[in-house]
Amino acid sequence: AAIAATLCAGGVARAEGLTVGFSQIGSESGWRAAETTVTRQEAKKNGDTVKIADAQQKQENQIKAIRSFIAQGVDGIFLAPVVATGWTQVLTEAKDAKIPVILLDRDIDPADKALYLTAVTSDSVHEGQVAGDWLVKAVGSKPCNVVEIEGTVGASVAANRKKGFDDAVAKDPNIKIIRSETGDFTRSQGKQVMESFIKSVGGKNICAVYAHNDDMMIGAIQAMKEAGLKPGQDILTVSVDSVPDMFKAMMAHEANATVELTPDMAGPAFQALNAYKKSGTVPPKWIETKSTLHTSQDSDLQQIYDEKKNLGY
Ligand code: AHR
Repeated sequence: AAIAATLCAGGVARAEGLTVGFSQIGSESGWRAAETTVTRQEAKKNGDTVKIADAQQKQENQIKAIRSFIAQGVDGIFLAPVVATGWTQVLTEAKDAKIPVILLDRDIDPADKALYLTAVTSDSVHEGQVAGDWLVKAVGSKPCNVVEIEGTVGASVAANRKKGFDDAVAKDPNIKIIRSETGDFTRSQGKQVMESFIKSVGGKNICAVYAHNDDMMIGAIQAMKEAGLKPGQDILTVSVDSVPDMFKAMMAHEANATVELTPDMAGPAFQALNAYKKSGTVPPKWIETKSTLHTSQDSDLQQIYDEKKNLGY
């Protein structure tokens, strides 16, 4: 559709931008909403056009959106896959239509990696390890019962964050994961799950909470406060994303640590797609984003909070 040269005012030749269809998962978390905003900003910055389809957390909606993008003849498709499996058929259709697909923020489990051009994601096993290593240090030599609030069942990042954390805390015999349940990456379900943990094991028997994202932890913090507990003090917290509200919670001493996931997956994706479409440059199969740990002990929390508010959150 898009790489034709047109004449601008003054007769200067300008390459037209690409049109990209983005099958976004939904708006389950603050991080997800920021990723959508940043994708729009990046498209504009690159002179490209992005059409965003919100799948409301359903894979069937993502598959429909991809088919619609194929029918529209877009130049590329970005896919944030809600779950890891079940993509082979539709991605084969995109491949047959010669439309490159770039995965954003989550992986898929295809037999054939040739079904996508590249994946822009963090190392989500490593994120779990960073969270677990932090907890091992924070706990020291005392016994610690951990409750875990998992992300969406079937999502690559939920499985990987669990694995990385499990591996890290397995090194410390004092740490036991006593409960683990999904909160589907949402604030409201994080709160509900934490309420049920407090009810079933008793708040006093919980030493730490690990949540696969900050939104679920913000919900859990609310549940702890309503139960008369002091999150960040009586109960340690560690989660993933680094959304502005988590920085607020850390500054209020109601949370302890968060592993950062950048919402800017689209920047590298637009670059890779443009290089591929315009000069045939094949990107690496994985473009890895950084995972940085932030804790309530850091001196730059307000500064990072302000930067994040300017980023698209
Ligand atoms: O895939 C990234 C995860 O999805 C984020 O950590 C979470 O907030 C979002 O829902």
